[in-house]
Amino acid sequence: MDKFSITGGVRLEGEIAISGAKNSALPALAACLLTADRVTLHRIPPVRDVGTMQKLLAHIGASVTHADGRVIVEAGAIRAPEAPYELVKTMRASSLVLGPLVARCGRARVSLPGGCAIGARPINLHVAGLERLGARVTQEHGYIEAEAPNGLEGAMFAFDRISVTGTEDLLMAAALARGETIIDNAAREPEVVDVAALLIRMGADIEGAGTSTIRIRGVAELHGAEHEIIPDRIEAGTFLVAGAITGGDLLLRNCVAEHLRALIAKLNQAGAEVTEPAPDTLRIRRPGKLRSVDVTTEEHPGFATDLQAQFMALMTQAEGIAIITETIFENRFMHALELARMGANIRVDGRQAIVAGVSRLSGAQVIASDLRASASLVLAALAAEGETIIDRVYHIDRGYEKIEAKLARTGARIRRIP
Ligand code: EPU
Repeated sequence: MDKFSITGGVRLEGEIAISGAKNSALPALAACLLTADRVTLHRIPPVRDVGTMQKLLAHIGASVTHADGRVIVEAGAIRAPEAPYELVKTMRASSLVLGPLVARCGRARVSLPGGCAIGARPINLHVAGLERLGARVTQEHGYIEAEAPNGLEGAMFAFDRISVTGTEDLLMAAALARGETIIDNAAREPEVVDVAALLIRMGADIEGAGTSTIRIRGVAELHGAEHEIIPDRIEAGTFLVAGAITGGDLLLRNCVAEHLRALIAKLNQAGAEVTEPAPDTLRIRRPGKLRSVDVTTEEHPGFATDLQAQFMALMTQAEGIAIITETIFENRFMHALELARMGANIRVDGRQAIVAGVSRLSGAQVIASDLRASASLVLAALAAEGETIIDRVYHIDRGYEKIEAKLARTGARIRRIP
């Protein structure tokens, strides 16, 4: 298993190009199952989770090819409408094929995800939505089996709580259902808007993506399309924090400021300066000291849970007490203990973490526990004295494209130890 060696204390300076969004690429790849035609996706990031989704599509029977930074999917025939345990256990987002498969084939079999490092993460809401569209869903041997031999019927469905992949799954299913579907309490994340944009290019009739109510008029068939994935706001947010934590000066290319408003506001309050010097470009500088700022994670457009761990690392370097409240996942503070091993002063009390700064961080051996927790350890290591060794960086590789190369180009002393 690869490790990272990071020697901290360098101000990062330079430019970083942001990759396509992992969490857009995953539903976009699943959406390719809705048509027998060829779908060409641009800016699919070559990260591990995307590789897992491509394996899943191949297992199902689609051909997946790569050419010049594009991924071309052709799901002419569906051989096995299922997501087996081996793939779902490495990536929960495999359940995104449930909706498309039931809609296209009238049946699907998807392994139930187990627990995960950040909480229980069930898929009961995906199932409830599909049942509302007329699917018969049973559970046996650890698998969800959904059937709709005569196709899905449009209906009204209100999510009990907001779910990003739940909304995407249902959106994809409803695109091929008979009649109209209205999804209420829908997720408003940019990734939902992106998958809706792809579906519209494929011939779907969708209105309201990006708001809490999405209206879908089902069509009999979808066709091939070409689509470019949006930039990864979480990758961009992670590098913004890297600029702030090292007191550096970074220019991020290919990012959408609009997707990062909540983080940018908090960074500015904390004493960093984030500007937009050109379209699709963000610059971060941090001329003076950092101040503590409280954050509470929320669904979009609130502060993203996927940036909570990174912000916690930053708050260890801020003067004062920061209270970080996690409302989306029940167990997403695993990084706090590892940060404490590096010298951070953090007390976790239920859904809140109280971070007292400024702490002198010193390099240590730490273990990455999930994707964003690992990113927070990388950030803390950049600010720490001496060398940090981060074990199990495969967690980082799930969602960041060559993070070590991007950071090294801005001066970071980081290397991968195979
Ligand atoms: N939930 C249920 N039942 C469901 C679905 C969700 O109870 O059927 C609960 C979850 O347990 C959680 C909350 O609802 O407490 C919200 O979960 P959501 O369904 O929105 O999360 P997700 O769709 O599984 C996506 C991202 C996550 C991100 C969350 C929240 C993808 C592939 N994953 O997960 O990204 O944290 O939304 O924004 O889009 C990451 O990239 O590191 C990551 C974990």
